[in-house]
Amino acid sequence: MAVEKKDIDWGSLGFAYQPTDYSYVCNYRDGAWEEGGLTTDHTLTLSECAGIFHYCQEVFEGLKAYTTKDGDIVCFRPDLNASRMADSARRIVMPPFPEDKFVEAVKMVVKANEAWVPPFGSGATLYVRPFMVATGEVIGVAPAKEYQFRILVTPVGPYYSGGVKPVAVKVPEYDRAAPHGTGAIKAGLNYAMSLYPSVQAHAEGFADNMYLDPQTHTFVEESGGANFLFVDKDGVLVVPQSATDSILPSITRRSLVQVAQDMLGMTVVERPVKFEEVASGAFVECGMCGTAAVISPVGKVVNGDTEVVFGEGGMEHVGPVMAKLRETLTGIQAGEIEGPE
Ligand code: COI
Repeated sequence: MAVEKKDIDWGSLGFAYQPTDYSYVCNYRDGAWEEGGLTTDHTLTLSECAGIFHYCQEVFEGLKAYTTKDGDIVCFRPDLNASRMADSARRIVMPPFPEDKFVEAVKMVVKANEAWVPPFGSGATLYVRPFMVATGEVIGVAPAKEYQFRILVTPVGPYYSGGVKPVAVKVPEYDRAAPHGTGAIKAGLNYAMSLYPSVQAHAEGFADNMYLDPQTHTFVEESGGANFLFVDKDGVLVVPQSATDSILPSITRRSLVQVAQDMLGMTVVERPVKFEEVASGAFVECGMCGTAAVISPVGKVVNGDTEVVFGEGGMEHVGPVMAKLRETLTGIQAGEIEGPE
């Protein structure tokens, strides 16, 4: 029998945290992951000397669960999040959480919170946030010996307020990552780096930042919370590539590339993209993509005195390619459209 949904105005949800019934928790002690399971306790009590507080050993993921038009509850590609989280963990010397156990845990916690999974057509989804922190005590700079893996889930609406409308972004004076540092992994420390420029961008009326490569400040990288995509005048989807290994490989981007190539018959090129090219008007559409953002159209980008407005849509209309990509991907996620092989 279907579980009765929570009494929530799903359509008015923003991207905010609301505790649900269960989280998942699993500890790593004596060199091994324990059994793990569901908990109703949404808090952590840790030693003041836990590694997370001092040397920032933390990695996380983001994925979503949906109610399909047939009423089933599905998660979008949790295996890819499992493998990316394992890569992130290895880079900052944390024990990778076993990938099959990750997928099982995601399914378990989503099922337990079925009443919180927004209904089909509501525009909302259940955001799933797996994360891992160093709980073991360390005072000298070293990896901890104990860790906790958790998954919290929370129902969310659109990431950028105002829904799917073109947003403006700016090129900040700051970098979010070091060349060949940790920019390509999903670790909280990268997001700490982006907070100051992000608060500045918001105060100036921008939805987000467009970071350039940290070595030469020549090439477009990402926004901090999402990857960029461009469409050129010939309808080619252009995906920025990093020369300094400082773009997080977005799972949504990977899926959109597949959708563009295999379902929409588009040519996709992954290559370094100079900001100069963007400024010259080479691209008619721009978007930001990620689990949270899905695909958010970018109407304009400002870099100092340079202002670039994309295509005819600008800040008024979503470009046709971004609209089609979004419609197709969200259709696949909701089980309305069959995805590529
Ligand atoms: C996501 O898209 O899931 C993210 O993690 C981006 C942001 C909310 C940190």
